[in-house]
Amino acid sequence: MELTIHKADTQKPLPDDSELTFGTVFTDHMFNMDYDLKNGWHNPRIEPYQPIVMEPSTMVLHYGQSIFEGLKAFKTASGDIRLFRPRENFKRFNRSGHKLCMPPFDEDFALNALKELVKLDRRWVPSTPGTSLYLRPTIIAMDPFVGVRASHTYRFFIIMSPVGAYYKEGFNPVKIWVTDKYVRAVRGGMGEVKTAGNYAASLYAGEEAHRIGYTQVLWLDGVELKYIEEVGSMNIFFVIDDEIITPSLSGSILSGVTRDTVKQLAARWGHPVTERRISIDELIAAHASGKLQEIFGSGTAAVISPVGEFMFKDKVMKVGDGQVGKWSQKFFNAITDIQYGITEDPDGWIEPVC
Ligand code: COI
Repeated sequence: MELTIHKADTQKPLPDDSELTFGTVFTDHMFNMDYDLKNGWHNPRIEPYQPIVMEPSTMVLHYGQSIFEGLKAFKTASGDIRLFRPRENFKRFNRSGHKLCMPPFDEDFALNALKELVKLDRRWVPSTPGTSLYLRPTIIAMDPFVGVRASHTYRFFIIMSPVGAYYKEGFNPVKIWVTDKYVRAVRGGMGEVKTAGNYAASLYAGEEAHRIGYTQVLWLDGVELKYIEEVGSMNIFFVIDDEIITPSLSGSILSGVTRDTVKQLAARWGHPVTERRISIDELIAAHASGKLQEIFGSGTAAVISPVGEFMFKDKVMKVGDGQVGKWSQKFFNAITDIQYGITEDPDGWIEPVC
């Protein structure tokens, strides 16, 4: 398969780094590739960023057969551009596709196409610390058909957006609402899959969280409403009595690349993360006894996001002194230092682009 490149005639103006938020501005080009039963994946192309024309009957619009990934390109002080653990994203992308009955794609080919796309739009990679180019590979079902079955045709596309911090709080602690009123996912369902429906399922509770002054929802398991799962846009970590704990992957929790990075860093530092079930009751007891030292989220978009306060059943609990904790800062520094080329990359997490 040959990747064709059709360059845009004009270049859009670049936003100022200081004005970057998250996911509002898109670069000059995108990647597109199609699938049908006769040709498999075919016609891979980089072309100007443009609308996807589809019929109102297109299956993705009706039944949500859609998967996506999120990863970032960073610019180092010397101007080099690099990706962080992109192979992990493409592996997970194919795993998600499998669960959504989509055909697998060639991960090496996709990574190469992504690198070509980033190279072509390299002027869009911002350089101010804390900024990056967010990359969004997506696959959607394209059959014009309103019966329920897996589609026979798909579009794989990648769009790119220069971004700053994901939360308006930046690296300052966020407040999370633990709900036992709504659930995001159940075991045996789609919780571990990066599919659009999981995010749609989180919106209603998210709006309620905002109304009561909280940034995000912390979800409990969908069976007993007892065990902590994830935040939806992030995995979650707790530091209790000097032990770093994260909920074990239960099938309803996304297997985050940043979650894995935190685990690997902690192991390297001789302070391994414990993966186990942790209940909301245990968290509240740890808070009451003064043993809860830190909570932080991890994700590609958010990197590390300290949690300064959580609420459960109208009980508001401050975490530590409400400021950025020692471990949150240490993981944030270690991850971003590798991403921006400030420190070495002993584990080969960096994929150079140009
Ligand atoms: C990411 O961290 O990249 C995500 O996909 C989370 C969110 C922006 C949906």
